[in-house]
Amino acid sequence: MLPPLTVPSLQRKLQTSGAQGLLDESSGHHEMMKQIVCVAAVMLWVVTVVAAGWFFVKGWTAKGSDGRTEILLAPAERDQILAEMRQLLKAVDGVIRGLAETKPDLKQMEETARAGRMHMAEDVQPAIMVKLPLPFKQMGMSIHKDMDALADAIAQNEAPQQILKRLSSMTARCTACHDM
Ligand code: HEC
Repeated sequence: MLPPLTVPSLQRKLQTSGAQGLLDESSGHHEMMKQIVCVAAVMLWVVTVVAAGWFFVKGWTAKGSDGRTEILLAPAERDQILAEMRQLLKAVDGVIRGLAETKPDLKQMEETARAGRMHMAEDVQPAIMVKLPLPFKQMGMSIHKDMDALADAIAQNEAPQQILKRLSSMTARCTACHDM
């Protein structure tokens, strides 16, 4: 027989240690949940960054029926890009026509080149930008810059051969991009 006094004290001991155990366990859970949330947040962040990077490089594209990369645009966005393309061709056409003249109208040639520079940098909405693959953006931007430089060169009465050289470096990019 145990002395009567020791029983409650033992019970109390058990109770307190049990409660302590419970407490330990719940704070352990808490820590684990914190860690899971933390890892999930980091993973989500990584996925977001990778996806954003992937879209930045690949754009919103599919493989076209002829093997080239198809950029998936809304009809209005497509119209905008194609309108810029036709404008580019007009610029190339206008400058070549001018070069063929014995007395070219430099002012007009310059304006044609200026009008032809792609408006990508200023006008193209972010919604379109996101869908364009990286090489498209890079080549588009470089054409934009070179058209501006061409207009400047015409204004400064650069030699026709130099003008042609500038043009051919651009038309090489026209065809390269169209083949992608
Ligand atoms: C950054 C890529 C890129 C560059 C650079 C580029 N194009 Fe285009 N162009 C396209 C795409 C994409 C199309 C859509 C048609 C296709 O190839 O399937 C297109 C279509 C066109 C069209 C057809 C427009 C229409 O209404 O259907 C013309 C004309 C054109 N480009 C002219 C040019 C000229 C001229 C240049 C160079 C001064 C040029 N492009 C440079 C990507 C480019």
